[in-house]
Amino acid sequence: MMVTEVFSPHKLISYEKVPTQIFASAAEASLAAATEIAALVKSKQEKGEYAVLGLATGSTPKRVYAELVRMHREEGLSFRNVISFNLDEYYPIASDALQSYHHFMAENLFRHIDILPENCFIPNGATTQELVKMACEEYEEKINEFGGIDFQLLGIGRNGHIGFNEPGSHSSSVTRLITLDQMTRSDATRDFGGPAHVPRKAITMGVGTIMKAKRIVLLAWGENKAGIVKQAIEGPVMEFVPASYLQGHNNVSFVLDESAASELTRKKTPWLTDTVLWSQQLIKKAVTHLALTVGKPILKLTNNDYNENGLSDLLALYGQAYDINIEVFNWLQHTITGWPGGKPAADDTNRPERAEPARKRVLIFSPHPDDDIISMGGTFQRLVDQGHDVHVAYQTSGNIAVADDEAFRFIEFVREYNEKFGIESPKAEQVYNDALAFLQVKKNGEKDIPALRYVKGLIRRGEAKNTCRYVGVPMERVHFLDLPFYETGTIDKKPIGAEDIALIAALIEVVQPHQVYAAGDLADPHGTHKVCLDGIFAAMDSLKNKPFMKDCWLWLYKGAWAEWDIDLIEMAVPMSPDQVLKKRNGIFKHQSQKDGVVFQGTDSREFWQRAEDRNRTTAELYNKLGLAEYEAMEAFVRWKV
Ligand code: F6R
Repeated sequence: MMVTEVFSPHKLISYEKVPTQIFASAAEASLAAATEIAALVKSKQEKGEYAVLGLATGSTPKRVYAELVRMHREEGLSFRNVISFNLDEYYPIASDALQSYHHFMAENLFRHIDILPENCFIPNGATTQELVKMACEEYEEKINEFGGIDFQLLGIGRNGHIGFNEPGSHSSSVTRLITLDQMTRSDATRDFGGPAHVPRKAITMGVGTIMKAKRIVLLAWGENKAGIVKQAIEGPVMEFVPASYLQGHNNVSFVLDESAASELTRKKTPWLTDTVLWSQQLIKKAVTHLALTVGKPILKLTNNDYNENGLSDLLALYGQAYDINIEVFNWLQHTITGWPGGKPAADDTNRPERAEPARKRVLIFSPHPDDDIISMGGTFQRLVDQGHDVHVAYQTSGNIAVADDEAFRFIEFVREYNEKFGIESPKAEQVYNDALAFLQVKKNGEKDIPALRYVKGLIRRGEAKNTCRYVGVPMERVHFLDLPFYETGTIDKKPIGAEDIALIAALIEVVQPHQVYAAGDLADPHGTHKVCLDGIFAAMDSLKNKPFMKDCWLWLYKGAWAEWDIDLIEMAVPMSPDQVLKKRNGIFKHQSQKDGVVFQGTDSREFWQRAEDRNRTTAELYNKLGLAEYEAMEAFVRWKV
């Protein structure tokens, strides 16, 4: 049997220098990757040979491994003939540390399949300094002894690294000790529970080692990889983007989901790579892109601007620039409204929301206890001020994002309060003692004891209630769902389950909203926001035959990290300078999330700063395109269920 290579050969699309396959979702792409690996393993079995796999860790390949485990359990796929070499390991690190790649591989793959432990090779992060060089040489030799790697799975870092070959790595580098880049370390902060705990070094296979593999598949998901993926696929080969070296491999595929592919020329400006069907959406995309590229407001674009920027097709369709300009300008104009719940008694033909009913029932879903105010605080306030019945549902407890000392402060508070007022509470005393004892021995990233988790959730609950009081939502319209999928106590969450969906559906059914607002982070395949959104989609689907659902519109806002592309925005709600300040003070209610939150990531700005920068940028974009100048704007996309 021939090994089926699911992804190649393809014809190269113009601008792309490496075969690239785009899937609708990370799940489908992972399935295709797992299918190719399984076919290789089986074909080698038939020939009585080893299959030598090069394996990656990180969030990207998890679903591939889950699918291989499923194939083993349900289809009897055996891994007895598999030899595996992992790309890398932190240095120094103990093999049994929760963050070690030894632990990762055992948890995600090895302990669920029948691969022989002696066939699994991972660089040893506990090797002494003196022996590292020799251990690296031995690792290279081992790979060669087995005849080299048949199939190498890769992820890509946001800085373009493959393995831990950071920018600057040489094309012929071999397995070695390397100093981790700042971006890599801050991306690992979440796993290690703070920047100071992330190792400074790692052992990694070299670029040269990877390039010797007979077949390479690089996976990338999510919009935070889109920029670097474009550079690796369309940019020049250079040492500052190590993944670009792969352009020189003769049997490589980049496998992407839609979000990771979103910056590629064929997606961003498809009219430059192909003939396109000019839908309203695409015209909006092309014209806003053109205006921003040439730095002119839409109404000042000329025939020449269209002709010189690959849009002569579109020009031919309309005849002259003026007609396209005016049409697109009006489309954008109609997205702007100070009445997010609809303007009562007004003609709503060209407004984003219906005028009737004048007083709407609104249900805002907030994945964590602060997304409502961070991402749509201005709109939230307007909806309340304009007399709608606004409910807020906090989907998760958000407990893992509270610092230990913050939680301990509250536990101590209760104890001292009790002491002062002579309240005897052996239970409170016990919580205090347990928390104190646990925190003294807690390992980085270790799951908290239940009492501590509960206190952390309570802190966030209190902050969310405070925000609601500040905005003017009565407590009976504030709902805490504490969805079970989130309650693992660690960063890794369970997938959304029937219990979660039922909780969401029950609330929608009680409120019977005319408007639902939800965090629309479609692009984040691992994050809590996406899981929360999947839960809402599933709940709404289960209710679709209920009569009230006919009048229920779903508006999506984006989380704290990104904004909708300007051409996608269907409702833009302007904010005055005073409204921006009011929102800032609402965000300040979330005290546990201030001054360097537990999962800071690479962006050192606090949430209120991110929100303001983003809302200001949206307003500036509208203004650059020639529309009115506002201080800030919040943006929404309507999801047609
Ligand atoms: C992991 C590795 C890294 C990751 C990359 C992406 O073994 O070598 O190159 O593939 O950092 O990480 P995730 O998938 O977590 O975004």
